[in-house]
Amino acid sequence: MKIPEKGIKKEEIFQALESYKVKDLDWRSGKVMGYVYDPGKEAEAVINKAYTMYLAENGLDPLTYPSLLRLETELVEMAANLLHGDNDVAGNFTSGGTESLLLAVKTARDMAREVKPHIKYPEMILPLTAHASFYKAAHYFDIKPVVTSVDKVSFRADAAAIKEAVTDNTILIVGSAPSYAHGVIDPIQEIGEVALENNILFHVDSCVGGIHLSYMRKLGYDIPDFDFRVPGVTSISVDLHKYGYAAKGASLILYRNKDIRKYQMFACSRWPGYTVINPTVTSSKTGGPLAAAWAVVRYLGDEGYMTIVKEVMEATKIVIDGVKKIEGLRVLGEPDMCMFSFTSTSDKINMYRLADDMKSKGWYIQPQFEQQCSPENLHISLNRSSVPRSQDLLKALEECVQNIRESEDEEDDLNFRAEVKKLSGNLDDEAFFKLVTLAGITGNELPEKMEKVNQILDVLPDDITESLLVEFLNNLMVSSGGD
Ligand SMILES: Cc1ncc(COP(=O)(O)O)c(C=O)c1O
Repeated sequence: MKIPEKGIKKEEIFQALESYKVKDLDWRSGKVMGYVYDPGKEAEAVINKAYTMYLAENGLDPLTYPSLLRLETELVEMAANLLHGDNDVAGNFTSGGTESLLLAVKTARDMAREVKPHIKYPEMILPLTAHASFYKAAHYFDIKPVVTSVDKVSFRADAAAIKEAVTDNTILIVGSAPSYAHGVIDPIQEIGEVALENNILFHVDSCVGGIHLSYMRKLGYDIPDFDFRVPGVTSISVDLHKYGYAAKGASLILYRNKDIRKYQMFACSRWPGYTVINPTVTSSKTGGPLAAAWAVVRYLGDEGYMTIVKEVMEATKIVIDGVKKIEGLRVLGEPDMCMFSFTSTSDKINMYRLADDMKSKGWYIQPQFEQQCSPENLHISLNRSSVPRSQDLLKALEECVQNIRESEDEEDDLNFRAEVKKLSGNLDDEAFFKLVTLAGITGNELPEKMEKVNQILDVLPDDITESLLVEFLNNLMVSSGGD
């Protein structure tokens, strides 16, 4: 595409923007069981207005717009309060969970450089269920991930394994509250003790859980301590754009005090331009997401969040109980909040086919690959807009499972997997071409049905899967050659 010589009429532009969305997931439908956190029409209007009010304000640094500094400080205070931090807690607004986690890791690395200079090869302890962003952080900041086991039944991190994994090079321990894949909270109290005993920073990834779990507690649910009440916890990430129901581009990274937070900051005066002082990764950025997040938190208040969390948890119980009753399915672990995963009780139900069949009925359920700690499964995250859909979801799931049970050819699946394994043993150009053909990929287009693609990605070793994904993305994001 080229920039048009003459500007185009605004109606045409809006029409084009609308038409580009035809293949997108319909997030308003309540049938998208992930990605979406929909606070409802009224709150959405508040978000939209606040977002546009601050769209042009630039958060380049916190000094230029006092309004942005104030909004950020107040949001941090509200979250610190919710997570039982005291007035010493210091934090920042970031673009999302990934940025918050990158910063937590960078902070640990830079702090270790100063206070533990003997460490030349820093390590970070990650339970198997820690979020992928920690691997990204390890990759960006050159830190060795030391991966520890999780309990095979509960999928919670094993504090004893973490204790054993501590070395003189450990700069950070990570726990999740909850982990994304299975929705379970790690034993934060026990891990905190290991961190304290060894004088190591301990980050709790509460990106999905920070807000939702806090309100579950207020509602009387039995939620173990996972926040600043646990003495060893030194930082917590909490996303506002997930169960805070804010617009995308909104997360917080909180530290127990500013003596730790200072290692997150970056300043540069050694170039001929303006002075750079950045608390987070980006420099120039719109104030929109910050203002919108501040607005929705103020708009919903404790009462609004409690109403949503109560409804979502009631729906979650219905859905989890319902899934358990569907013959051939089993829920993994005992999920602590409104996200969970389920698998097949035998090889009879191909989970990736199930995801495709649900998609053809308009439901989006996320496939999750087999890992050493977890079988192939499907993941469901409920949110406010999925509440009225609980029974429809179960009905659709039951129908699809039934269909697959009647038609599934287990033998075919096993043969397919065996063929992929064989090809991956020696992945030369010819084998690669065969894999792509088996997957049904034509050009850069993914097939409508993702079952074969998912099966292939699942069977291949992680390093090959990752290279394939990079290759695919690299080819996907290129010029379309159109006008
Ligand atoms: C536990 C956890 N941490 C981190 C992230 C990354 O968040 P984001 O997608 O906002 O970068 C997620 C995303 O789902 C998550 O569930």
